[in-house]
Amino acid sequence: MRKPLIVGNWKMNGDAETLGTLFEEISAGVADSTREDVVVCPPFVFLERICQAVRKGSAVKIGAQDVSEHAKGAYTAEVSAAMLREFGCEFVIVGHSERRQHHGETGALIARKAAAAISCGLVPVACVGETLAQRESGMTRQVINAQVEEIAAGVGPELLDRVEFAYEPVWAIGTGKVATGEQAQEVHEWMRATISAYNSEVAAGCRILYGGSVTGENAASLLDLPDIDGCLVGGASLRAGDFLEICQAASQQEND
Ligand code: PGA
Repeated sequence: MRKPLIVGNWKMNGDAETLGTLFEEISAGVADSTREDVVVCPPFVFLERICQAVRKGSAVKIGAQDVSEHAKGAYTAEVSAAMLREFGCEFVIVGHSERRQHHGETGALIARKAAAAISCGLVPVACVGETLAQRESGMTRQVINAQVEEIAAGVGPELLDRVEFAYEPVWAIGTGKVATGEQAQEVHEWMRATISAYNSEVAAGCRILYGGSVTGENAASLLDLPDIDGCLVGGASLRAGDFLEICQAASQQEND
């Protein structure tokens, strides 16, 4: 049984005070839960503040939204995996479609970022997803397979068990348009099959999250599906009540 994983991606939102309060509310809500892993990913500049709150005691784990592929050196504005570890981060999102789209990140770069994260003991959550145009032209499977393969090949079969994956259809991110259970399950199955070609044991154990307009209302039906092991949540992770409902749905899941 794969333990459900819920990751909140706060993106470039909030300020020290509102995010501090949001974290406290989320932390209080998952205080007694060991049935699912809960991670929040604050903007870099608030990591220190949120990690300090974690050190005082919290079941919530911390992730970063991005990481440099480089270990150190003259890379202005970049943040290394070792720095993130020093803060207390355990996870990092790599290859979010907003990075691919607005910052020209390629599959090869994303794989190098995942490898850099693993080398410092961080768990990369590697995102893949097709655009609406790609889905409408029947290319979804091809696009997703290529993106998963780039990550798997770049990280290498021996370290692939350190990676968690997220399927985030680009057309569903921040649009309120969630993929149907059928669409999501189909893609998750393809992804597991692609990973299986590298290592079938890893494929059986790795968590594949769904992301794209997940809310407290639709989370349970998505998490119910056999290959959906958690959610990557944007907008709803900025509302404690909504996010906790998603965590609750994950925790129910494991009880089934
Ligand atoms: P959303 O974002 O939940 O606001 O659609 C998801 C994501 O970008 O990870």
